[in-house]
Amino acid sequence: MGKTIIVSNRLPISLDYKDGKPDFKTSAGGLATGLGSIFKEANNIWIGWPGNYVEDPEVRAEIYLELHEHKMSPVFLTQADIEDFYEGFSNETLWPAFHYFTQHIIYEKRFWEAYVRVNVKFCEAILKKADPDDTIWVHDYQLLLLPQMLREKLPNATIAFFQHIPFPSYEIIRMLPWRKAILEGMCGADLIGFHTYDDMRHFLSSAGRILGLSNESGYMQADSRLINVDAFPMGIDYEKFESAANSTKTQNYVTKFKKLLGDQKLLLSIDRLDYSKGIPQRLRAFDELLKTYPHYHNKVSLIMIVVPSRDTVKKYKELKEEIDTLVGRINSAYSTLNWVPVHYFYRAFPFAELSAFYHMSDIALVTPLRDGMNLVCKEFVASKTDKMGVLILSEMAGASKELQDAVLVNPNDLDAVTTAIYEALNMDEEIQSARMTAMQETIKRYDIFQWVKVFMDRLKIVKEKQAEFQSK
Ligand code: G6P
Repeated sequence: MGKTIIVSNRLPISLDYKDGKPDFKTSAGGLATGLGSIFKEANNIWIGWPGNYVEDPEVRAEIYLELHEHKMSPVFLTQADIEDFYEGFSNETLWPAFHYFTQHIIYEKRFWEAYVRVNVKFCEAILKKADPDDTIWVHDYQLLLLPQMLREKLPNATIAFFQHIPFPSYEIIRMLPWRKAILEGMCGADLIGFHTYDDMRHFLSSAGRILGLSNESGYMQADSRLINVDAFPMGIDYEKFESAANSTKTQNYVTKFKKLLGDQKLLLSIDRLDYSKGIPQRLRAFDELLKTYPHYHNKVSLIMIVVPSRDTVKKYKELKEEIDTLVGRINSAYSTLNWVPVHYFYRAFPFAELSAFYHMSDIALVTPLRDGMNLVCKEFVASKTDKMGVLILSEMAGASKELQDAVLVNPNDLDAVTTAIYEALNMDEEIQSARMTAMQETIKRYDIFQWVKVFMDRLKIVKEKQAEFQSK
C-alpha cells in the first residue's frame, strides 16, 4: 500500500508575514478538517500553493522547511502564474463558465498557456514526492489537467479527482476552445466526483459528446481503463458547529451581540465576495421587504458578512462597489437613530463570533445564483441547537438537493425571495422545529468525515473493478 497525496491549488493554511518572516495559520475550513484525518497519517502529504508571491529564495526555503513539519509541500507560483493561471484562466475563464456566467468568460490564449504551465508545475512537484503505487487525490477546477498528466507518468497510481464547483451543461462546456483537453485531463482519474447528480450527468454528457466516451451506470471506458463518475455531496464537521453553538464562548458573544442589537429579528448572510453568490439580488429582496412591509422597520435587520476574495479580479472589484452602493442606499433610506437595517462587514470573523451569528439569527438567507454545494447553509443548521430558525435556500445551490426542508427559492425571483423572508418571519415555531430537525438529521448523518470515507471506499472498489476488467 502506497501513501496518499492530497493536491489542491491552495494548501490548507494561510501565509502571512510577521516582522518580515513567514507566518502560517492552519485553515479551519471544512476540506482541511475532513482531509486532516488522511494527510496527517503515516507518510501522507498535502501539496499546494501557500498563497501570495514569494520572491526571496531564502524565504521559500524557510517556508518549505516549516511546511514540511506540518506534512505539507509548497508549489510556488510566480507573479505571472498568479495573474494568468490563478486570476486569469481559473477565475476569469473557468469560474464564470462553470457558474453559468457566460458573459464574464475571458477567452485568452495567454491564460490557457499559463494554466497548462502551472498544471505541469504541480505535476512535477508531485512526481518528486510520489511512488508508483501511491493514491493521489486532486481537488477542484484549478487542476483539471493534472489527473491525465499524472496518469502518463504514473500509469499504476490510484488517481482521484473531486470538483468542488458546479459542472455545467454541455452547452457551456462546448463554448470553451480548450474543452477537449480539459475533459481528457479529468479522465486521467480513476474516480471523478461531483457534489450533485446533475453535475455528474452534465459531465457524462460532455465526455460522451466531446470525447466519444459512453457510460454504463457511471462507468466509462477510456482505452482499457474503467473510470467511475459519481455524486458525493460534501458535508461539514457537524459536531464542531453543534458543540461550538452551546459553548460558553459562543453564548457570551450571543449575549453581548443581542444586547447591542436590541429586540429584533435577525437575518444572516455570509459569503465570500463572489458574483455567483447573488449578494446584490439578496439586498434588493431585503429592500423590497422594507418597502412592502413598513411595520418591520426597527424590528428586523440584516447582518451581512462578505469575506474578501479575489479582489484583484475586475468583476470582483465591480461587485464590491455594487454591494457598497446598495447597502448605502438601503441604510440611508431607512435608518433611524436607533436602528440600522443592514449591518455590513467586509471581513472575515473568528470562529466563535461566526458561531454566535449562526446561533442567534432567526433566518439565514443563502441565495446564490449558482453554487457547487454551499456549506454556509449546513453550518447554520448545525448551529441551531434550539431548533428555532428558518433557512431560505437557493434552488441553485447543490445543498438544495439534500435540504428539501429549507424554504427553497429561485434567487432570480425577487418577489419570491421577498415573500420567503416574510413567510420565514411569520413561520410557526412547531414548523420551524420540525423542518430544522429534519435538516439536522440529514447533515449530521453525512458529515465531512463520512464524505471522505465514502469517497475513499469507492476508490478502492473502482480499483478492484478495474483489475477484474483488465483480467478478462
Ligand atoms: C471555492 C473553490 C476553492 C477555492 C475557494 C476560495 O470554494 O471551490 O477551490 O479555494 O473558493 O477561493 P480562492 O480563489 O481564494 O482560492
